[in-house]
Amino acid sequence: MKVFITRDIPEVAIDYLKKKKIDVKVFERRIPISKARLIKEVREADALIPLVTDKIDAEIIDAMTRCKVIANYAVGYNNIDYAYAKKKKIIVTNTPDVLTDSTADLTMALVLSCSRRLQEGKNLIEKNKFHGWHPKLLLGIELKDKTFGILGAGRIGTAVATRAKSFGTKIMYYSNHKNAFLDDKLGGKKVSLDKLLKNSDFLSINLPLNEKTHHLLDSQKLALLKRNAVLINTARGEIIDENALISLLRNKKIFAAGLDVFENEPNVNKELLKFDNVIVLPHIGSATVEARNKMAMLAAKNVSSVLEGKIPVTPI
Ligand code: GLV
Repeated sequence: MKVFITRDIPEVAIDYLKKKKIDVKVFERRIPISKARLIKEVREADALIPLVTDKIDAEIIDAMTRCKVIANYAVGYNNIDYAYAKKKKIIVTNTPDVLTDSTADLTMALVLSCSRRLQEGKNLIEKNKFHGWHPKLLLGIELKDKTFGILGAGRIGTAVATRAKSFGTKIMYYSNHKNAFLDDKLGGKKVSLDKLLKNSDFLSINLPLNEKTHHLLDSQKLALLKRNAVLINTARGEIIDENALISLLRNKKIFAAGLDVFENEPNVNKELLKFDNVIVLPHIGSATVEARNKMAMLAAKNVSSVLEGKIPVTPI
């Protein structure tokens, strides 16, 4: 049995697969694999471990004549044509739970960096404009008693809310389902999307990307945000209409934005780099040693389970 992995994932997973007597082939470069090469590789593979950057569309799936499982090395699986894989009876798995804390931590890092204007502070020092302590220098916003909006109250949204609650915020959320933990343990309130946008002092996007959430935050919805709102996106760039966000920023209709994801990754709209109050990061939500090791092991276990004829650990 052979597994093809589109990038150099942590060794623990490679060792695990080898111990299971599975042949492992890893794409040797640190850039996304070309479509032509991927098609060639998947023809000979019984399993594939792709990354979020690999678009697994119908053409690739058609080339998977032996492949039984696509074990995405990510929790989001918008990069995979899941319906087509299902039709072709290929199992798709992802890596939920293991990256929840890491992504929630990064969300809070962005919340605090934006609310306390860390980037502006660094820029000021770099430009030799720090002339000593000043009563009005870089005044930020406290979290205590503010409304913290969670857009998408799944695993990551819940972990973000738990952290935000410990800073003394009031939790509001928008979700398809009631979240008993947020309601009962954190005193959260489930509200409509518009109400969430109108009331949030901090808004964290924690939704999966699909047809319903693509450009969910368009210019009309973004216009509902408070003038002093802090917007954080650690989910998927396409959930926000980026051009609409840029106009909002240009018109100073928002306090700050913290973005770990973008509409056209890896290309980041250069306009976003012009704002001092926008913090951009290169999609590192799950980039901790702990999360990446666990993601790799989970993907490997999903592969080995399917190849051994068992039910995978985390099927979609
Ligand atoms: C990363 O973006 C993931 O979905 O795991």
